[in-house]
Amino acid sequence: MISSHAAPLALAAAVLVAPACAPAAGHGGGGATPRRPPAAAVDRRIDSLLSAMTLEEKLGQLNLLSVEGDTVTAEQADLIRKGAVGGLLNLTGADATRRVQRLAVDQSRLKIPLIFGYDVIHGYRTTFPIPLAEANAWDPETIEATARVAAHEAAAAGVHWTYAPMVDIARDPRWGRIAEGSGEDPYLGAVLAAARVRGFQGADLKAPDAVLATAKHFAAYAGAEGGRDYNTVDISERTLRDVYLPPFRAAVDAGVGSIMTSFNEIAGVPSTGNRWLVTTLLRGEWGFAGFVVSDWTGIAELQAHGVAASRADAGRLALAAGVDMDMQSRSYLEDLPALVRRGLISPAVVDAAVRRVLSAKARLGLFDDPDHGATPERERATLLAPAHRQLARQIAREAIVLLKNDRNVLPLSPSVRTLAVIGPLADAKRESLGPWQAQGRAEDVVTALEGIRQRVSPGTTLLYAKGGDIAGADTAAFADAVRLARQADIAVLVLGEAAEMSGEAASRSTLGLPGVQQRLLEAVHATGTPVVLVLMNGRPLALEWAADHVPAMLEAWFLGIETGHALADVLFGDVAPSGKLPVTIPRSVGQVPTYYDHKNTGRPPSLADKYTSKYLDASWTPLFPFGHGLSYTTFAYGDLRLSAASITPAETLRVSVTVRNTGTREGTEVAQLYLRDEVASVTRPVRELRGFRRVSLRPGEARTIEFVVSPAELAFYGLDLKPVIEPGTFRVFVGGSSVGGLEAGFAVR
Ligand code: BGC
Repeated sequence: MISSHAAPLALAAAVLVAPACAPAAGHGGGGATPRRPPAAAVDRRIDSLLSAMTLEEKLGQLNLLSVEGDTVTAEQADLIRKGAVGGLLNLTGADATRRVQRLAVDQSRLKIPLIFGYDVIHGYRTTFPIPLAEANAWDPETIEATARVAAHEAAAAGVHWTYAPMVDIARDPRWGRIAEGSGEDPYLGAVLAAARVRGFQGADLKAPDAVLATAKHFAAYAGAEGGRDYNTVDISERTLRDVYLPPFRAAVDAGVGSIMTSFNEIAGVPSTGNRWLVTTLLRGEWGFAGFVVSDWTGIAELQAHGVAASRADAGRLALAAGVDMDMQSRSYLEDLPALVRRGLISPAVVDAAVRRVLSAKARLGLFDDPDHGATPERERATLLAPAHRQLARQIAREAIVLLKNDRNVLPLSPSVRTLAVIGPLADAKRESLGPWQAQGRAEDVVTALEGIRQRVSPGTTLLYAKGGDIAGADTAAFADAVRLARQADIAVLVLGEAAEMSGEAASRSTLGLPGVQQRLLEAVHATGTPVVLVLMNGRPLALEWAADHVPAMLEAWFLGIETGHALADVLFGDVAPSGKLPVTIPRSVGQVPTYYDHKNTGRPPSLADKYTSKYLDASWTPLFPFGHGLSYTTFAYGDLRLSAASITPAETLRVSVTVRNTGTREGTEVAQLYLRDEVASVTRPVRELRGFRRVSLRPGEARTIEFVVSPAELAFYGLDLKPVIEPGTFRVFVGGSSVGGLEAGFAVR
């Protein structure tokens, strides 16, 4: 028996539980230690610094500026010498950071080191799959390891602080930043948030391979109207707590060092000026002891939001809300001194923010080693180390999802006679890195075409046609693609989005293949040569035609530098696909938002009854459901057993199930456990993920796995928005996706 990833929050009482469904235990990340206030000695050091600082020096610590290129401007250097800068972002490289750090530690009055921040989103130089792709692995251990490697490389290159993990739960694929997170589910999102925080920060932030993590964007940034980036969010506190907050809570419980506020408003209150969110909830209710940073010019933008009449007013609002660091607005540095002197801001509020920033620097050990161990030699030895590449290949393989595989078109035989590889993404090095490339380099990428070329037998004729551009309108290159497809036994089409079509400021109003790629797909399909469609994209694409016509589809998202090796491993069956979707794939943009843990409504959809919740012109089912993913073998679930028919709210339920490999090849299945609270004082989703487990099985092999459902996993926010477990009946579903599965029931008495 092995236990599951189920295991959530600590219980405050039998029936009243700690808020937010933040599964974390079992991965060793939760607990009180990371939230402990800094040791007394550190406090004393900070006290003495605070008593020595001028008001300008204090506000300087709260000032975070971006660097363009490999060094600071003369004006920035001057500010650093004056003690008017607390940190810099976008300055990287051991050499560059060491040089600039000297300005602070040798030439400023109080010699307080700078903190260097950078967006290390899915790797520093070794580019791993985009976070959304990594989430398909449902493998917190490996994801923790990729964050560890990213930290290792970034820290060696002088970075102290990453603006990751991005833990926004995203249910609208039009929103390009869905690529940066873990998908639609709060439970999976929470498990992976904690894993990434542990990976980035390691056991000790002082270690030269650790970076301080940032959970962002707090909060509900993905709830933007119409999927338009930066747009308005209007959700209930219940939805905020049920859906958007659990990954943040898990990050806090895992000891995350900082939190970044989001650009958006929630119900009229922009996050960067939201005292309830940042102070009452985050610091008060959750006990977060780290520091809070605004997003890029997020403070100044309070003016455009219309809640501040001037930049000074915006700075005052943000500081009062509890935002400690001002990224790029310069309001704290330039506006706040006058406001403090006029008595409009209490000096104690400034001190509290400064203390939090200095504590983070102390946690990183910057007062003792302002370079945090970064040297050019270490940097050279660390970046793109062979073991890092290997890990990139492993996670990339795990991230690939086999969406469909009619007639077992896949795996391909390496000795296939003639193979055509077609499509604008087949040999696109830079695109394969995906959005947020950090220091990733095109030259490091093994493309799909290259990976396939390395893997096929010497006797195979490999044909390649680009077939056109990713987003172009020109169909001139189709003829060549069609001609090669006709000559081939199999055509592998690599289609999808350009890297820059997802990530920040990259919302789309349609979810099809950009440009003329759909027509290219149809033209190649019309040759009659069997098509394997490999998708590279930063968001779910609504490809109903492909799902209806193409026999085999692989969702690869953006897999990073090992794209081609990982794809070839899976295409030729050296590794069986094991990825499972962390997000629902809709049939059309009109179905958006669509997600598996929806409410039942008073009129659930039914074909038999017109007056039910559905469209006239589309099915209510998705194209591919959350949790879906096939392998080259098949799995059967049996023998679902519950440790009790009823439990008290304080008791734990054990759920065991036997998973059998019923095919002829070895494979890995991600077994998933879902719960449904059948009747409660507030409506509950039709099912919610509460546990998962990767199980590798040889042909014919069976294994019994156990999920532990703890009381907190039965809890929800009651009518009074307090966590509660109510007596009543629950359904349990266990299977290989969010649809179907074995079922059982139990009661809470
Ligand atoms: C993004 C953040 C990012 C910051 C710094 C902003 O535009 O929203 O996610 O961390 O820039 O690069």
